[in-house]
Amino acid sequence: MERSLQPTWAAKRAALTTFMTIFDKAKKTLQQLSVTDAHGVESLFTELRAAAERELAESISRGAPNPAQREKLAKALRDRWLARKGGLVAQVDENWLKTAGKDLKPAVGKQFNELRRSTVGLEFEKLIEAVPVKEAPVVQMGLPLGFEPAHATPRDLTLPGYRRPLGSIHPVIRMQREIEDIFLRLGFRIESGPEIESTYYNFDALNIPESHPSRDDWDTLYIDSKTVLRTHTSPVQIRSMEKYGAPLYILIPGKCYRHDNPDSTHSPMFHQIEGLAVDEDITFADLKGTLDFFAKMLFGEKVRTRFQPSFFPFTEPSGEVAVSCFVCDGRGCRVCKESGWIELMGCGMVHPQVLRNGGIDPDKYSGWAFGLGVDRFAMVKYDINDIQLFFQGDVRFLEQF
Ligand code: DAH
Repeated sequence: MERSLQPTWAAKRAALTTFMTIFDKAKKTLQQLSVTDAHGVESLFTELRAAAERELAESISRGAPNPAQREKLAKALRDRWLARKGGLVAQVDENWLKTAGKDLKPAVGKQFNELRRSTVGLEFEKLIEAVPVKEAPVVQMGLPLGFEPAHATPRDLTLPGYRRPLGSIHPVIRMQREIEDIFLRLGFRIESGPEIESTYYNFDALNIPESHPSRDDWDTLYIDSKTVLRTHTSPVQIRSMEKYGAPLYILIPGKCYRHDNPDSTHSPMFHQIEGLAVDEDITFADLKGTLDFFAKMLFGEKVRTRFQPSFFPFTEPSGEVAVSCFVCDGRGCRVCKESGWIELMGCGMVHPQVLRNGGIDPDKYSGWAFGLGVDRFAMVKYDINDIQLFFQGDVRFLEQF
C-alpha cells in the first residue's frame, strides 16, 4: 500500500522534465531524460526544431535598426545554435547522439540530420540575407510583418500556428444590432447612405432653412460650401424615398459628425439610427404604438413611454420620447438622474414638404420618423459614464463586452 504511493524514480524524472525547457534538455542525455523509444526521440527533436524556427522567424519579423546591429544579432543567433563548441546542435550531438544506445542510434541519427538541415537558415550569411534592416519594429497581430516563409527552414505543419486573439462586437454596434433586430421583426429594412453628404440632402431637402443655427460652421463640419460630414442620418430619408418611393419602412443606422469638442457626453463622431415609415393612412397613433412596443422590447415589458411636444423642421407635429427608468421604475435614481425618465429620441409625422422633396405625394401618403443616438443608448444600457471610452480602443474596456 505504502509503496504504491511512492512515485518511482522514472516517474519523478519524467515529472521533472516537463518543467525543463528544450534548452535544458539539450544538456542532458536521453537516458537522463528517460527517453527510451523512437517516438520520444522524435518529439524531442520536433520541440527543438520548433524553437529554432521560432527564433529565426522572430529575428526576421523584428529586423534590426541598422546593418551593424544586424550583424551582431546574426552572430549571436548563429553562435547560440551552430557554434562548434557549445552550440545547441553541438550539444545535441554530444548529449543525445553520441550517448544513444544501439537501439536508439538510428532514430537519433535520422532526426539529427534533419535538425542540421533545418538549422541551415541560422548560418551567418543566410541570416544577414533574411533579417531586414528597418527603423522601428513593425509587428502585426498574427503573422509578424516581413516574415517570409521562403527564407525559413521547411515548416512543420503539425505545429500550432500563430493565433489571432478573438475580438468581440463593439458595444455601440452591439446596441445598434439589438435595435435593428426589433425593427427587422416589424418588417423594416436596413438602409444606409453616405457620410460625406451634400447640404441639399443634409439640410435643404429636410426643410432646414439657410438661416437655421445648425447649419452654422460652429455645429457642422464643412468640406466645402456645398458638402458636409452629415450631421444626422435624416438625409437618408430623402435618398430612400427617391430610390424606392412609397410604401417604405426603413431603419437607417450610421455614423454622424458634428463640430463638438470631445467630452464625456460629446464626440465629433457618433452614431444614430433613423426610422421612417411611409404608407397610406399612417397616423401619430402608429408612431406611438410602434415606439412604445420598441421601448418595451428593449428595456422590458414594464416600462412606459412619454411623448412631449417638440420641434424639428422635418416633422410636424414633432415630439420627444422618454421611457420610464428601467432601473428604478420611475422612482428616481442615478441612471435617470433622479427624474424617473430617460430621454430616448426625437420623432414626429413627416412634414408634407419633406415627402414632396422625396418625390412622394403627401395627399396620398403620410409617414412618421424618429432619430436616436446609439452611443447614448449604449451608455444608458451598459451604465457607461463617458462616451470617449467607446472610441479610445482600449482593450481593457472593450474586453468587457
Ligand atoms: N435628425 C435629428 C437630430 O439629429 C433627430 C430626429 C428627430 C430625426 C426627429 C427624426 C425625427 O427623424 O423625426 O437631432
